[in-house]
Amino acid sequence: IKKVTTHQLAAMKARGEKISMLTAYDYSMAKILDASGIDVLLVGDSASNVMAGNETTLPITLDQMIYHATSVVRAVDRALVVVDIPFGSYQGSSTEALRSAIRIMKETGGHAVKVEGGAEIQESVKKILSAGVPVMGHLGLTPQSIYKFGTYTVRAKEEEEAQKLIEDAKLLEELGCFALVLEKIPSALAEKVAKELTIPVIGIGAGAGVDGQVLVVHDMLGITQDFKPRFLRRYANIGGIMKEAVQVYISDVKSHDFPNEKECY
Ligand code: KIV
Ligand code: NA
Repeated sequence: IKKVTTHQLAAMKARGEKISMLTAYDYSMAKILDASGIDVLLVGDSASNVMAGNETTLPITLDQMIYHATSVVRAVDRALVVVDIPFGSYQGSSTEALRSAIRIMKETGGHAVKVEGGAEIQESVKKILSAGVPVMGHLGLTPQSIYKFGTYTVRAKEEEEAQKLIEDAKLLEELGCFALVLEKIPSALAEKVAKELTIPVIGIGAGAGVDGQVLVVHDMLGITQDFKPRFLRRYANIGGIMKEAVQVYISDVKSHDFPNEKECY
């Protein structure tokens, strides 16, 4: 199997082939996603919400991200694995940012890291890149800054914030990031950024004019049930299927149907 590389993602953008990306946090799920042919797997800090049940991404630690990423990497033969550096492990100190990125690369076997923000974190981005670690940027709605924004609504609707986003996107490309995630911003703005940048721009709630799409896998499979933003398309109701299966199991146990003779030693 030919492995997906950051260079192949650039080539995909150049030839107009859209990039498919999903989150993954564990071995079993990552194995299915990789075998399905997904291009990029993101070990997102959304693990904090989806795996641990936290309200925000802030509580997850670098050690916990490393645990998730290690599990995902073990499952993957083809996809490019990108790992979020969690809140508190790269902001404000480029030395700490580099240390975090190196821990991720050494301990997980992941292929790249992702960080949230633009100009504010440029020293961290530079330092990580200087060690030869590929960096994916993330602008727009950046959940690690949720307490600054106050809400999870669409970002960069106003001219000033849109202008800063464009400048940050260009800066991240100039610094040497290999790709950029744009989360929950107007489609027209996302399309403009994707057109102006050479590196692939991957959107979530950022419309169709970008170079690829990413979703949280538990959301698109319908494992999470109560999260229903407009940008989310549900491709299955796995939560419903699981519930039905578990209910049949419970009923089989209660009715003495399970286990039967063939299922015993
Ligand atoms: O953590 C995550 O799931 C993400 C994606 C939504 C881009 O950062
Ligand atoms: Na994230």
